[in-house]
Amino acid sequence: MDQNTMIDLCKKHTLYTWAASGSVAPMPIERTEGIFLYSPDGKRYYDFNSQLMSVNIGHAHPKVIAAMKAQLDAQLLYSFPASATIPRARLGQQLAELMPPNINTSFFTLSGAEANENAIKAVRMYSGRFKILSRYRSYHGATNATMQLTGDPRRLPNEPGSPGFVHVFDPWPYDYSFGETDEEITRNNLRYLEETIMYEGPETIAAMFIETVTGTNGVLAPPDGYLVGLRALLDKYGILMVCDEVMAGFGRTGKMFAFEHAGIEPDIVTIAKGLTSSYTPLGAMCVSDKIAKHFQDNVFWGGLTYNSHALSLATASAVIDVMKEERLVENSQKMGVVMRREMDRLTEKHPCIRQARNIGLFGMIDLQKNAQGERMAPYNGTSPAMKRLGELFREKGLFTFVRWGSFMCNPPLCITEAQLLECFAIVDSALDVIDAEYFER
Ligand SMILES: Cc1ncc(COP(=O)(O)O)c(C=O)c1O
Repeated sequence: MDQNTMIDLCKKHTLYTWAASGSVAPMPIERTEGIFLYSPDGKRYYDFNSQLMSVNIGHAHPKVIAAMKAQLDAQLLYSFPASATIPRARLGQQLAELMPPNINTSFFTLSGAEANENAIKAVRMYSGRFKILSRYRSYHGATNATMQLTGDPRRLPNEPGSPGFVHVFDPWPYDYSFGETDEEITRNNLRYLEETIMYEGPETIAAMFIETVTGTNGVLAPPDGYLVGLRALLDKYGILMVCDEVMAGFGRTGKMFAFEHAGIEPDIVTIAKGLTSSYTPLGAMCVSDKIAKHFQDNVFWGGLTYNSHALSLATASAVIDVMKEERLVENSQKMGVVMRREMDRLTEKHPCIRQARNIGLFGMIDLQKNAQGERMAPYNGTSPAMKRLGELFREKGLFTFVRWGSFMCNPPLCITEAQLLECFAIVDSALDVIDAEYFER
């Protein structure tokens, strides 16, 4: 099928996400390999966003593809809920080994949203409380309940949703500030949170969900002391802590899971994306021993036809093996240092850069249109400059997410230093154009 027919048929017969489909200009992709995407006409793009911040091991890894084929050859694609299979046994054990000592039990889903959706149910059933706290600058999924859990503006067209979701400010709000230093920000944010808990009634609150490192809403690593303080505050009121590691997990931040940076143990960790590096759909809710014990004795009122699908579980096992063999978490940490250096270099050079943040290979650059720090596009909006930037990246062979006044820097964790420098050289040349055409001097 030629490229234009492919685009026409996709537009004619399928709907695209988060957009009016008629306005979408789909990117034609025929093949992917390592850190590259290839269009049918042979154009090569650096995947500077790991698809949806998810292809952590890189595209089309031969060992994972071989494991997937072996699972097909084994003629076991079974996912009957009450079955025992080798892929289920193996992945359950691998995840128990990767998680902190208090977490040894997983419930498998098909996506990150479903992992959070089931976590909402689990914390309510476990605690007998119904309210859930989450933060405004968060995304937790596009199902009905996870849209209400989400704080960012994608929630708004989905309202009103089901009751019981209470949103609070992040330690790093969009404009408001809790202080100057990490210590001050942590102290003030947690004081504010404790007051919110008081108003809401602690005995009504089952859990607080956080993206351990906020992803699409800014790549915001928590200030020093925040996670430890939050853990203690939630414990004080018997509120469970759920870390959504759908985007931040599986090495993205330079640790296997982002909560490891603070040495805390969550009550539930939700995962997806990097779990299979997007080779097949899979998510999981990984629960602490006390919650697992509850569901040994009480029914977990949840299920999916494709729970524990053998192909997805075998894929995830192979992905985890590759991550270990190729030391990709260590590479993420090492390449994160290179990314920081490049971000500092570009910030020095380009007046249009407002701020550049990264933790491991999780990065974002915010742009400004003048020296007063006015953002290059408004909150939840776009601008001619940001549209132009997206076009420049595509023309120059770099795929990444351009959102509001920012863009993402999230390559696969297998990227080499030379490749990372090539990506930043493209970013550099695109920002030259933005400086010249859009920065108001
Ligand atoms: C932090 C976070 N949680 C949950 C989700 C939802 O995952 P999925 O798209 O697999 O449903 C996402 C997706 O981007 C995410 O970034």
